[in-house]
Amino acid sequence: MSLEFTRRALSIPFYPAAETYKFEGELVKLASNETPWGPHAAVLEAVEAALHNLNRYPDPSASQLRHRIADRYGVAVSGVALGNGSCDILLAAAEAMLEPGAEIVYAWPSFSMYPHLAAMTGARAVTVPLDSDGRHDLEAIGREINAATRIVLVCNPNNPTATALPIDEIDEFVASVPRHVAVILDEAYVEFSLMQDPDDSIPLLKRHPNLVVLRTFSKVYGLCGLRVGYALCSEDFRIGVDRVRQPFTVNMLAQAAAAEAILHQDEVARRVERTAIERLFVQDELVERGLEVSDSHANFSWVSLGDRDEAAVMSGLSERGVIVRAGTAMGEEGHMRVTYGTRHENERFLSALDEVLAGL
Ligand SMILES: Cc1ncc(COP(=O)(O)O)c(C=O)c1O
Repeated sequence: MSLEFTRRALSIPFYPAAETYKFEGELVKLASNETPWGPHAAVLEAVEAALHNLNRYPDPSASQLRHRIADRYGVAVSGVALGNGSCDILLAAAEAMLEPGAEIVYAWPSFSMYPHLAAMTGARAVTVPLDSDGRHDLEAIGREINAATRIVLVCNPNNPTATALPIDEIDEFVASVPRHVAVILDEAYVEFSLMQDPDDSIPLLKRHPNLVVLRTFSKVYGLCGLRVGYALCSEDFRIGVDRVRQPFTVNMLAQAAAAEAILHQDEVARRVERTAIERLFVQDELVERGLEVSDSHANFSWVSLGDRDEAAVMSGLSERGVIVRAGTAMGEEGHMRVTYGTRHENERFLSALDEVLAGL
């Protein structure tokens, strides 16, 4: 006899883990939108210092980290929620706000965790296709909001298409959404975007109490191995998501690392600049090879493979030790998503791609 699981649990899709890893040489990992640089030296020191206290539980209110985030953005500490990665906050929001009969609206393709939110709660997921440039169609999203809607997700820049919307459009959109609907603006990649100042979304919080700005230490700060994300939000939202989770969601090392990392905005700026240089390089090289890329505002490119066989491109790259994401796993066949690595890694990706494309 096998174990019995709820129908709801069985309906939750598996998070598409990156392809691994039979290659024996040096792997080039460009599948998970990580940064190629290790943590800042001061962050490592903070983690090492925290190691000595591992016999204690972490601070359940993560006071130092929440204060530093609040100071950084000029918001109230009561409006800073933390999570074991920003995914944790998304899942907690679903648990706190969704149930059978409720609806969640989001664009598709978008972040592959979003389908979990409806599946795990029995709510209905309403998905709205991206426009022909791979951007959110906010008008169409707005048309799907009704009395049953509890959450709207807006991913800006969007994963996997890397496209971004100007903050004014988002401001106008949030103003049109009824106040009882939480608009979660997922800005996991916002620091990489040069479209506008990444902090331009912060003043929107004052105007729209139903807005949640979701950010993470996983991307530009390079701390995805520790899992820490945060939401700038109303106190209401914070209490709601805290209620449904265990008290110690963010571990002690993650708290220490993030609290130090946020003090080093010069390092953030350096990473943003290096990423922008690699973005230009990779996008130009892809276009030179006749491939179509979306307008990237993130640390990755979304590449259309045209009528080339996506699976053959993926396996050709992985046989050469280069791991990228297949479009099919991200909701759109015939594409790949490639994260920018170091220049050396990007060059290895491009030369592997040349070999694969030549052999198709
Ligand atoms: C759009 C988006 N949001 C959120 C996350 C989650 O990041 P984390 O849980 O590591 O904070 C990711 C990770 O890839 C992402 O792409």
